[in-house]
Amino acid sequence: MTRATPPPLQPIGPRSYDSEMPNASRMYDYYLGGAMNFTADRELAERAKTVLPCTPSLARLNRSWLRRVVNVCLDEGIDQFLDLGSGIPTVGNVHEIVQRSNPDGRVMYVDYDATAVTHARKLLKGNENAGILHADIRDPQTVLHAPEVRSLLDFTRPVGLLMVGILLYVGEEYDPAGLVATYRDACVPGSLLPISVITTQIVAEHDPMTHKQILDLIAVYNDASEQIHPWTVDDLRSWFTGMDLLEPGITILPEWRPDGSLESDNDSEARLLGIGGMGRVRGPVTEAPA
Ligand SMILES: C[S@@+](CC[C@H](N)C(=O)[O-])C[C@H]1O[C@@H](n2cnc3c(N)ncnc32)[C@H](O)[C@@H]1O
Repeated sequence: MTRATPPPLQPIGPRSYDSEMPNASRMYDYYLGGAMNFTADRELAERAKTVLPCTPSLARLNRSWLRRVVNVCLDEGIDQFLDLGSGIPTVGNVHEIVQRSNPDGRVMYVDYDATAVTHARKLLKGNENAGILHADIRDPQTVLHAPEVRSLLDFTRPVGLLMVGILLYVGEEYDPAGLVATYRDACVPGSLLPISVITTQIVAEHDPMTHKQILDLIAVYNDASEQIHPWTVDDLRSWFTGMDLLEPGITILPEWRPDGSLESDNDSEARLLGIGGMGRVRGPVTEAPA
């Protein structure tokens, strides 16, 4: 069933189980080959794949980007992470990447989806250095001041604040630029903020057929509990105010510090659909002595 009118404004807050309403978390799980999804999710995900056949490839490219940015954060000395919109646990979870490299590394996940939270809690049982908060990232004060977050992460030291594949679900009406600024301001200088989103801008110039397909995919998500909001390179760049962009700046996902993996996805039609960049929070500007 396709809605004729735009969906209503989504109320802010954690979501409970609703197996009848397809959602972003479980559809992403389906694209990645996971089993934590219901019939309604699979049916809408199949519709998405019909209109944009490279949808699973787009999910894998984003997942690969997540792995690479976490490794860059680790190389830069970051040992604690806040992962906003973490999703249903799947292959290559952030705490696994972090704790493989540093067993004392800390990871706090945040997701508003009950399926993601339940499965993460099961997986993290007994792991004292990782947890999940059931909260809505559009409510940054709740996230940043949650006792679970404050007891695991030390905000007087740099953090890796991951916004990977999440701000495509946050519309202009929730002021993504303001949200990023609020999270940035909670982080001390030296903290790293990777952000990836979907864009229709680049494909519009280079691949008209995939451009039409991504617009159709966005329309399919009108029947899901989250809608997709594509952003431009300039939108994304503007969110890094107060930060220095790490090399190579903002690029399509497969071109951001490629590591030779996922060759086939790197060549798929999905390659122009995701963009990302990583900012380093700047120190306070101090006047040079006269
Ligand atoms: C596409 S998945 C991305 C998962 C992971 N970050 C990755 O890149 O592989 C997006 C996740 O964001 C969650 N999400 C969407 N909007 C949210 C919000 N306002 N607050 C918290 N979680 C949200 C969804 O439930 C879903 O699990």
